[in-house]
Amino acid sequence: GKMSQDELKRVAAHRAVEFVEPGMTLGLGTGSTAAHALDRLGDLLRAGALPGVAGVPTSLKTELHAARVGIPLLQLDGARIRLSIDGADEVDPDLNLVKGRGGSLLREKMIEGAGERFVVIVDESKLVPRLGCTGAVPVEVVPFGAPHTLGLIRKVFDGLPGFHARLRTVADGDLVSAPFVTDNGNYIVEMFFEDGIRGDLQDISDRLLRITGVVEHGMFLGMATTVIVANNDGTVSVLH
Ligand code: A5P
Repeated sequence: GKMSQDELKRVAAHRAVEFVEPGMTLGLGTGSTAAHALDRLGDLLRAGALPGVAGVPTSLKTELHAARVGIPLLQLDGARIRLSIDGADEVDPDLNLVKGRGGSLLREKMIEGAGERFVVIVDESKLVPRLGCTGAVPVEVVPFGAPHTLGLIRKVFDGLPGFHARLRTVADGDLVSAPFVTDNGNYIVEMFFEDGIRGDLQDISDRLLRITGVVEHGMFLGMATTVIVANNDGTVSVLH
């Protein structure tokens, strides 16, 4: 029968774990797809199949999950990360990504940018013609002056039809909403584009990162070395 989206995520995750070899230090991703990779790694470690494997977690949530399934954990301390495995929110035809709708983009970008190989695991629904097509592009900002920084982010896209940006919030009781706080104690600005981002992604990235108060954004440009796609028809595509 037809596989559910969660089964597709598991298929992609298990395929990525086939790249893991004994002794490797891994970057451990965050999200529902990466969670399948953690479970699989835990099973293989407990079976004794991957001696010497350890991981650097991209979020507190992943740290807890990895510890629970028995993956030894390391800090991001300059040790060589051979391979990172993580999901993504969107993948464009050039294998640029939107990540961070789960809120973990900063540690993800630090760890996945530090590794030698970055394998992205997605189901087919994540493939898009342009980044920003299906939802928010997150930007992590320091809490101090966040409304001011939000204004500066809006100015980068001044006059762009259909663009809007807002501070991400969490429902906190019935009436008030509080800012979403990242693992790093920062806030998230969500940028929305009517039909995806048209234009030079690298230039947009540079302009965002030049704003004092912006810590990092969720466009991962030129970082993925492999994208494993679990297709709806049950086949798997490996993109480079
Ligand atoms: C976490 O901040 C994100 O970058 C996730 O990697 C991304 O949201 C993918 O999550 P799912 O695998 O749950 O879709």
